[in-house]
Amino acid sequence: MPSTSTEAGPTRVLVTGVRGKTGVPLAELLLAHPGVEVRGGSSDPSSVDIDGVRPTAFSWDDPAGWAAATAGVDAVYVVRPDRADAPELVGALLAETSPGTRIVLLSEQDADYTGADGWAPRVERAVRDSGRTWTMLRPSWFMQVLTDPRFYRDQIADTGQLPFPGADAQLAWIDARDIAAVAERALLTDGHAGQVYELTGPEALTLPRTAKLISAAAGHPVTHRELTIDEAVEGSSGFDRFLFALTFERVHAGSFSVVTDTVQRVTGRPARSLQAFLADTAPTLKRTT
Ligand SMILES: NC(=O)c1ccc[n+]([C@@H]2O[C@H](COP(=O)([O-])OP(=O)(O)OC[C@H]3O[C@@H](n4cnc5c(N)ncnc54)[C@H](OP(=O)(O)O)[C@@H]3O)[C@@H](O)[C@H]2O)c1
Repeated sequence: MPSTSTEAGPTRVLVTGVRGKTGVPLAELLLAHPGVEVRGGSSDPSSVDIDGVRPTAFSWDDPAGWAAATAGVDAVYVVRPDRADAPELVGALLAETSPGTRIVLLSEQDADYTGADGWAPRVERAVRDSGRTWTMLRPSWFMQVLTDPRFYRDQIADTGQLPFPGADAQLAWIDARDIAAVAERALLTDGHAGQVYELTGPEALTLPRTAKLISAAAGHPVTHRELTIDEAVEGSSGFDRFLFALTFERVHAGSFSVVTDTVQRVTGRPARSLQAFLADTAPTLKRTT
């Protein structure tokens, strides 16, 4: 059981994906606890530059390195690798950890959509079957995809468009910092074992409404442009294309529209709204030309 008491030595937490959208704020929250040591897992550890984090080589492509990355850790934050063999990889990683290790898996909202034999439930099952103490985090779409250059930032900033196959669906966008805050509690405090936390922002928004809020914050017109799912996944292939298309199918089906109060219940404060997120990040969405 993780303990922040220094008598028993530091509590060591391995944060996989420490350079990612949830990894960065989670590392910062964990470091604020005296007696907590954060190992920052990355496939490129030389680029981990969060003050106080110990850069740690961790790659899903290099199982030989997992024993060293997990040696002596009390808890692991597992960012699910979005690849076909994730169920096997996650199971094999957890088998390397000592039996008392606490595991928090970053999964996704409505992970059961495809039925028990679907890919996402099989990743979760690898955690449930690991014999470790676990907590599942099932977040909705991250607000940060709107400001990430790998997703929508450039289209918003350069063309004033949010191209998204949403139909009339709603998304309960969540700020990745709120996911991190729930992960922090699950990794360091009792009462979260065996819990499946569906995590969302405070409201579900249509894509046109989302574009309107972005527009107001960015200070230039931004409109939603409806795409077909085929158009949205163009350029991707293999498992990436399958998962991408399935995710948009689930958007249409309403998988990400259910609003929960789990962030409030676990952290004691409400989930951030999209407006609040945009107030912090709008400069990245301003026109570049
Ligand atoms: N984005 C969303 O809206 C959303 C919503 C619900 C659930 N999710 C789930 O959340 C997870 C994170 O998604 P994200 O797109 O937001 O990514 P992210 O956290 O921004 O970044 C992914 C992380 O994976 C790490 N990584 C890349 N290749 C790796 C490898 N070979 N071995 C180990 N780590 C590697 C990267 O770090 P290094 O390059 O440092 O290794 C990076 O930090 C995914 O499972 C996704 O399905 C995302």
